[in-house]
Amino acid sequence: MEIIEHIDRNKLPQHVAIIMDGNGRWAKKQGLFRAAGHKKGTQGVKQAVEGCAELGIPYLTLYAFSTENWNRPKKEIDILMNLLVSSLKKELKTLQENDVALHTIGNTDTLPKKAQKELKEVIEKTKTNKRLRVTLALSYGGREEILKTLQEISIKVKNNIISPSEIDESLINRHLYTHDMPDVDLLIRTSGEQRVSNFLLWQIAYAEFYFTSVLWPDFKKEHLHDAIYNYQKRERRFGKTSEQIK
Ligand code: IPE
Ligand code: IPE
Ligand code: MG
Repeated sequence: MEIIEHIDRNKLPQHVAIIMDGNGRWAKKQGLFRAAGHKKGTQGVKQAVEGCAELGIPYLTLYAFSTENWNRPKKEIDILMNLLVSSLKKELKTLQENDVALHTIGNTDTLPKKAQKELKEVIEKTKTNKRLRVTLALSYGGREEILKTLQEISIKVKNNIISPSEIDESLINRHLYTHDMPDVDLLIRTSGEQRVSNFLLWQIAYAEFYFTSVLWPDFKKEHLHDAIYNYQKRERRFGKTSEQIK
């Protein structure tokens, strides 16, 4: 029996987030340039998107480019940005067929104009799609997001729009890039690294972590199923005792 048949459709994570890592190492293993790993990595994206849509998971957030990734060689950044544009053009059809809406989080104003334009178009064309929301984290950093939130709230306090005592978790949530999304239930990272790398720091407060040694270009729906099956075996206690939640 396949793993997917053991997945309980009534206990699915509502929000899956993935740190898509290992493109460079995949390429090196094949004796190829890093660019080839990034290109092959787009297949992993397709597998994750279709896998979530088929299962009925409503939110998938993919870490595609971090604020720290701007420190990579310019040539590699250019390759990644061009790949973003060509993938958006190529995969619009897949998004439409699967009833998927595209969103972004991050400081996307810093992306090349061509990428901004293409993103805007695909977001607009898919905005009424209902089955799954795929959010690309682009020029995203968890600390940058929290800083931005602090600045916005400080301005409102300064202008007497809100008082400091009104600052609570819900107000902070409303100022995050993810303001209209639920917290992350399941965080997956590929390539064997076991770190968060500045991804969704606030939103993963109670997420379950799943690490796999699979390199991102090799990621298949079956790996997503493994992660979800593993997630469903865990007991999420949110600070309570096991007896309390039974
Ligand atoms: C993930 O693969 C893609 C991005 C971070 C943009 P990497 O490029 O980090 O691959 P490794 O970690 O060098 O193998
Ligand atoms: C994290 O991967 C960012 C993305 C997947 C986009 P990195 O490969 O950049 O992470 P570190 O720097 O090795 O932690
Ligand atoms: Mg990496």
